[in-house]
Amino acid sequence: MSVQEYLDKHMLSRKIEDAVNAAVRAKTMDPVLFISNHMRKAVPSVITKIKARQILDSRGIPTVEVDLYTNKGMFRASAPSGDSTGMNEAVDLRDGDKGTYLGNGVIKAVKNINEKISEALIGMDTTLQSQIDQAMIDLDKTERKGELGANAMLAVSIAACKAGAAEKEVPLYKHIAELSGKTNLSLPVPAFTVISGGKHAGNNLAIQEIMILPIGASKFEEALQMGSETYHHLKAVITEKYGPHGCNVGEDGGLAPNISRQDFYSYDAISSIVKEAIGRTGYNEKIKIAIDVAATDFCIGTKYDLDFKSPNKSGQNFKSGEDMIKMYKELCNDYSIVSIEDPFDREDWDHVKNFSGLGICQVVGDDLLMSNPKRIERAIRESTCNALLLKVNRIGTVTEAIEVVKQAKDAHWGVVTSHRCGETEDSFIADFSVGLATGQIKAGAPCRGERLAKYNQEDLKLMVQSFLQLLRIEEELGDQAVYAGEDWRLS
Ligand code: PGA
Ligand code: ZN
Repeated sequence: MSVQEYLDKHMLSRKIEDAVNAAVRAKTMDPVLFISNHMRKAVPSVITKIKARQILDSRGIPTVEVDLYTNKGMFRASAPSGDSTGMNEAVDLRDGDKGTYLGNGVIKAVKNINEKISEALIGMDTTLQSQIDQAMIDLDKTERKGELGANAMLAVSIAACKAGAAEKEVPLYKHIAELSGKTNLSLPVPAFTVISGGKHAGNNLAIQEIMILPIGASKFEEALQMGSETYHHLKAVITEKYGPHGCNVGEDGGLAPNISRQDFYSYDAISSIVKEAIGRTGYNEKIKIAIDVAATDFCIGTKYDLDFKSPNKSGQNFKSGEDMIKMYKELCNDYSIVSIEDPFDREDWDHVKNFSGLGICQVVGDDLLMSNPKRIERAIRESTCNALLLKVNRIGTVTEAIEVVKQAKDAHWGVVTSHRCGETEDSFIADFSVGLATGQIKAGAPCRGERLAKYNQEDLKLMVQSFLQLLRIEEELGDQAVYAGEDWRLS
């Protein structure tokens, strides 16, 4: 091909002339930069390359990270993972070779991205999220994403979503709102984990998390301050009561004093520790309390073993479902507990329904629902609970995560966008919670980098625009920013 033929084939003279004319019209101070940006915009932003690798999460366990390239740049995302897994959720694909990372390697998932997924997605338009997600679902062909791995698919799906936002030159939360057809953005009420137990900590506390919700804050920035101050007062209270070793932390940054079953059952943990710390801040009724019982972890047959981590347990203290309901009723009435997650085993639908039917607090389904549309549908139909805990990796793609949020909102449920105990610095869920106005976000304690990546303001110079976090998002929205606050349940 001659030079002239090449120029003609790509219409180069005309495109360059257009760019030069645009620079002249704009009277720009830096014409070269202007022309290069102008030319870049003229090229459709399709996926040009996908490269995955194995990294470590906040627990030091392997997970998948993806770099997805378009001509707008490189977009990075990673998959979280958690302790609880079930038969109805998407598969977190692990290598299973006990000699390497104790079987937790994700080399197969990485290989699936670098070979199969990459081949299927190269050339696709990143603004078309549902088509990208569908292409992976079609490629996988299994109900639970077991072939490619939901960890592989989710990391690619999130990276594509970030690339789509950059292509449209809008912040990530706005792009997510547009994908879902929503217009009312809102900054969620953060549920900060302040005390950790259950499988997340080495203490004797059976329930997994005690959280604080700064519902009375006027904006997210104030909520963050209230969370941080309470956490530090709590440290002092725990040091006084349990000694400094009581301030060791659990997997998501909550303090982990050795609260015994007796202390919890006599509500000492809540009254003399958390309430005391809130009292010292002076915020009082502006901060409400929530718990994640994660009761599946200590359900034995039809009974609940609040001593499940205690070395000297007698087996005498198993609680029936009715005993548990009585305990929850007292907690809600006496200690401003406004939300209880997984109060019963994931298959104990009847007790969840009986408790939820009392209408005394938000009842959140995490292990109960597994972020699975069929289980959510059943829970809506049977009025089992009244809020969804959304873990994006339990479903595996951004499009499907948006769908289940819609499903829950259509039923007038609350929605809690959630992290996992194994996290990375990826802050996607922060934008997700704003774009879908979920009203609540649970991302761990107000400390530890991988948790703060969601709550915090990041330095814009170091991050591409789509990585804005909640503080930064609030700052950017300025007068338009709405903090869910008292509307935390039905934002
Ligand atoms: P995970 O659970 O340990 O499975 O991530 C967190 C939660 O229950 O909210
Ligand atoms: Zn949970």
